[in-house]
Amino acid sequence: MSNNQLTSLLPIPSGPLQISELTPISMGVGSKSIHLSLVIPTYKERDNIKNVVSVLSQLLDEAIPGNYELIVVDDDSPDRTWEVAQSLMEIYPQLQVMRRQHERGLSSAVIRGWQVARGRVLGVIDGDLQHPPEVLTQLFSAIEQGADLAVASRHVEGGGVSSWSVVRRFLSRGAQVLGLTILPGVLGRVSDPMSGYFMVRRNAIAAITLNPVGYKILLEVIGRGRVGEIAEVGYVFCERKEGESKVTWKQYIDYIHHLLRLRISTGRLGKLSRKTNFPIGRFLRFGLVGLSGVFVDMTVLYLLSDPTTLAWPLTRSKIIAGEIAICNNFLWNDAWTFADVSINQQEWRHRLKRFFKFNIVCLAGLVLNVLVLNLIFNFLIPNRYIANFIAIAVATIWNFWVNLKLSWRVTDVK
Ligand code: GDD
Ligand code: MN
Repeated sequence: MSNNQLTSLLPIPSGPLQISELTPISMGVGSKSIHLSLVIPTYKERDNIKNVVSVLSQLLDEAIPGNYELIVVDDDSPDRTWEVAQSLMEIYPQLQVMRRQHERGLSSAVIRGWQVARGRVLGVIDGDLQHPPEVLTQLFSAIEQGADLAVASRHVEGGGVSSWSVVRRFLSRGAQVLGLTILPGVLGRVSDPMSGYFMVRRNAIAAITLNPVGYKILLEVIGRGRVGEIAEVGYVFCERKEGESKVTWKQYIDYIHHLLRLRISTGRLGKLSRKTNFPIGRFLRFGLVGLSGVFVDMTVLYLLSDPTTLAWPLTRSKIIAGEIAICNNFLWNDAWTFADVSINQQEWRHRLKRFFKFNIVCLAGLVLNVLVLNLIFNFLIPNRYIANFIAIAVATIWNFWVNLKLSWRVTDVK
């Protein structure tokens, strides 16, 4: 292998977050499967990465020589962690590095790393030495003894946290209790569902589309994977020596978002959605956004046309209120309801095109709304509120369906 090949970065997988079964084709010609692929997600870990790689290599060289790989997945850290990691590849031949420039987030980083992995067992460990490396060998032997998943836990024998404040302990436990209420079937299976230090047998998660938000990748693995036996190994979460934690309030929001998403897609609604092939989750989000639009419309209408405020003419006020509501709905739908589509089409040209189409579709929806209302009220149900309710439902389904097919269409295949 030439020097250039030796130190080149890993290709970044795109498309759905799905791990393939190990087949000669998926691995490429000439490569063979190995026992363990360990992903190290990093963001601004320049001062830690060398130590982490060195300690892990030493440990695994002894335990399973030549049968493991370390995959650093860095999200284009401004401190150039990826570059430091890359420079280590010559000394540590088991090390590979991925530099992601378009996608962000801890959980997806881990999955992208697993997607290029060759191991029959897939693992993850933090890149800041807060997870004691010695536990690795215990996790690995738990899998060898038959577990599908082996989790390093702070809450079993031998586990703990080093010097956490009461507030932090409380927040951590509070998050766990909240999770237990929303998703008992997932969080109830392990003592430390927040752990980011674990190994899983590849075939427990292969060929399943994962869809995590934020930090807690383990929830996704237990929630969607085919995980039978679970083993837990105690560990003490050490203090950081270099760099700083990336946890902010956003991770708490992401966590709740993730819980709800898993709840919906693994629950009864998710099953119905798959059976009927109708995107129920998306439709619910679209409906919720629509509801927010009603409030925006009402508020603006009040501000513009009410005699106590601006007292503008009703029709003019309504047109402005309606258009502002449409803008509101568009922004939320683009950032949330159809985020998976719009994230790949972020240029202004594309955004404007979507906005334009959304406007047209909503306008047509309004016409449909009025038509249906009149039809039902005059010929079927002589109650204007019931008739209006049905008309709104019909228009919402129309708006949703046509926008799904027209405005947020996957157009550019990279
Ligand atoms: N690629 C990538 N992208 N890596 C990230 C990102 C990201 O957006 N955010 C954080 N990381 C990396 C960090 O560099 C570190 O190696 C690891 O993920 C954990 O991040 P910390 O910011 O150090 O989190 P923590 O110390 O609060 O750890 C908590 O989360 C861990 C991961 O789920 C604890 O709950 C741990 O038990 C848990 O393992
Ligand atoms: Mn940390």
